[in-house]
Amino acid sequence: MFAQTPLQDRAGHYDRLAPYYDRLHHRWLRHAGGEAQAALEALVRVLATPQTTLLDAGCGTGHLARSLIAEGMLPQSMTLLDPAAAMLALCADIPAEKVNGRLEALPFQDDTFDLVTCAWALETVPDPFVALSELCRVVRPGGALCLAFCADRPVRGVADRLMRQALLCRGTGRFLSCAGVLRDIERFDGFEARAIPSHGPAATILARRAANKT
Ligand SMILES: C[S@@+](CC[C@H](N)C(=O)[O-])C[C@H]1O[C@@H](n2cnc3c(N)ncnc32)[C@H](O)[C@@H]1O
Repeated sequence: MFAQTPLQDRAGHYDRLAPYYDRLHHRWLRHAGGEAQAALEALVRVLATPQTTLLDAGCGTGHLARSLIAEGMLPQSMTLLDPAAAMLALCADIPAEKVNGRLEALPFQDDTFDLVTCAWALETVPDPFVALSELCRVVRPGGALCLAFCADRPVRGVADRLMRQALLCRGTGRFLSCAGVLRDIERFDGFEARAIPSHGPAATILARRAANKT
């Protein structure tokens, strides 16, 4: 399912991109990924309580964490992880734990977090399956994983086509198969996954882990 052009490790790219990232990402959300992002944020709002322990993996400049804190979530129960030091530096205002690390080797014990989020990062790693297995590993039984990613969905118009082309040309990501990601998640210990409908070349997935480990 991930048999597309191999991606090189692009974490270093985000160190260089950090000063411009928010502006570029806002453009992506406005023209292509906005519905998927809104679906992800709605899921997190429904699932999280102030005390929920949350890992935002591939946190970037901390957009998701800031909006959750503004709504009452405790920053002390959040962990922000990213391999790009320059992106993490832009999270300095967020009083959450920050970890320099990678999706493919999360530096946490099994079953650590109530909720794991990963927005627009799964498609940037060379091996998304390894990243998925790590994300699922750190979700505690009864917890959930929420994903938003660039997905191989029908292109709606010029804006979708241009955004898609720009991303492919930069070589910073790829368009994953939503059905394939769903299938892969369900291979992991007690997980059930479903896609939240949205338009655009993007997908949002909610994966819940059964309370009792199977
Ligand atoms: C498109 S940005 C998304 C940032 C943020 N989640 C957001 O919604 O704005 C991709 C992020 O993934 C990070 N990243 C790249 N390779 C990674 C890896 N192997 N493990 C974890 N994060 C990675 C980048 O540094 C960058 O911050």
